[in-house]
Amino acid sequence: MSQKIFIKTFGCQMNEYDSNRIYDSVQKIGYEKTHNYEEANCYLLNTCHIRDKAKEKVYHEIGRVKKKFRFKKKPLVIIVGCVAQAEHQEMLKREPYIDLILGPQAYHKINDMIINYKNKRKKQEDTEFDAISKFKFLHNIKNQNKKTSSFLTIQEGCDKFCHFCVVPYTRGPEYSRPFNHIINEAKQLVDNGSKEIILLGQNVNAYSYEEFRLSNLILEIEKLSGLERIRYTTSHPKDMTNDLIDVYKNSKKLMPLVHLPVQSGSDKVLGLMNRKHTIKTYLKIFYKLKKINSSIQFSSDFIVAYPGEDHKDFEDTIKLINEIKFINSFSFIFSPRPGTVASSLTMIDKKISLDRLEIIQQKLFNNQIMMNKSLEGSIIDVLVENRTDDKSKLFGRSEYMTSVLFDGSDDFIGKIVRVKIKNSNQNTLFGEAVELSNQKVA
Ligand code: SAM
Ligand code: SF4
Ligand code: F3S
Repeated sequence: MSQKIFIKTFGCQMNEYDSNRIYDSVQKIGYEKTHNYEEANCYLLNTCHIRDKAKEKVYHEIGRVKKKFRFKKKPLVIIVGCVAQAEHQEMLKREPYIDLILGPQAYHKINDMIINYKNKRKKQEDTEFDAISKFKFLHNIKNQNKKTSSFLTIQEGCDKFCHFCVVPYTRGPEYSRPFNHIINEAKQLVDNGSKEIILLGQNVNAYSYEEFRLSNLILEIEKLSGLERIRYTTSHPKDMTNDLIDVYKNSKKLMPLVHLPVQSGSDKVLGLMNRKHTIKTYLKIFYKLKKINSSIQFSSDFIVAYPGEDHKDFEDTIKLINEIKFINSFSFIFSPRPGTVASSLTMIDKKISLDRLEIIQQKLFNNQIMMNKSLEGSIIDVLVENRTDDKSKLFGRSEYMTSVLFDGSDDFIGKIVRVKIKNSNQNTLFGEAVELSNQKVA
């Protein structure tokens, strides 16, 4: 009987990359992906622990699967990702429906664990931090992802220990993959048809392998012919070194959107968060990059109502948003995470927190709307990724990652198309194709 695996992924881009690589791995023991979980004989859930309710979401999801399979043969249930790392033994005790648990640095063991489970029916969990073995194993398994835009993990883990964040506990210490392994995998992706590579790491700009830094990787990867665009995420202001800033002078393929999480506009709050950077250093990076290329735009992550944030601190965040005019940013109310320093601090009143979130989001959304409006009437480069779900339009992204919808044939997929923007809203640009690779579109 064919083995069908259904993979559901919560969380960040790295989880998406991991899910793809887990699939590359389990194919070796005969699994094939299904998009219909009811026909799966293996159900794999890749989890995220970054904010509240993440854990409950996992149990809720398993409840749903249990219900569907009530009168059918139970699938093999595997939980991976950051909740698996944080909860491990607890999960096996609380939910007997779960069979295997693997933390983010144990994915190289998944095939053996599945085979072992089938032979012995013994539940197992593995949450060892062994990034070296994981990436060594994955290096020998081809990356089969065939998307126009592909993720590529170059660095994993975090040594920064911001007081609010679970990542150092769920992903483990910082680890940078060997330079030549990354270049090899980038080549595989380009051979598979990828036109854009998004380099990933929890602190992607802390990448450090022998004498190589992120700047060296970008300049080497951009030599691959066929590749059109390079991005990287998520970076930390402390690791935004001059060599990386200088790449914006020399690179032809690095996109002009810098996602640089700041979290707060107040030095006092940044100190309380243990962020290890100040607003002055952040602004210095911003102005250096603007001087190199004034069309560079910034996006960011913000946490509002962090314990100790007073009205003046919040105003400082608004001030920073007004100065930098971030586009496409994310903002969250502080969520206490078990095991972190901030989890025991006194929370800010819920109403104040919600009000602050609304104010900040209004500002950020407004920036997004203004940015999109300013593009109406102009012609921009769009990398076409696929069709919309209803198949009526082509879907692509601008250099700033904004979604663009327009009419056109499937031949445009995987190509850079010049699109005249006719209309826009907060999240999307609507246009019409005018040119493709220097040819006019009829
Ligand atoms: N490494 C990145 C950095 O240095 O900012 C961030 C990684 S984290 C996966 C993504 C975002 O989630 C963070 O930038 C932060 O804004 C948010 N976040 C993390 N922990 C949080 C918490 N406890 N409550 C609310 N938001 C949180
Ligand atoms: Fe979390 Fe990023 Fe801070 Fe690391 S640097 S602890 S991943 S927010
Ligand atoms: Fe979530 Fe883990 Fe990513 S906690 S955001 S899946 S690193």
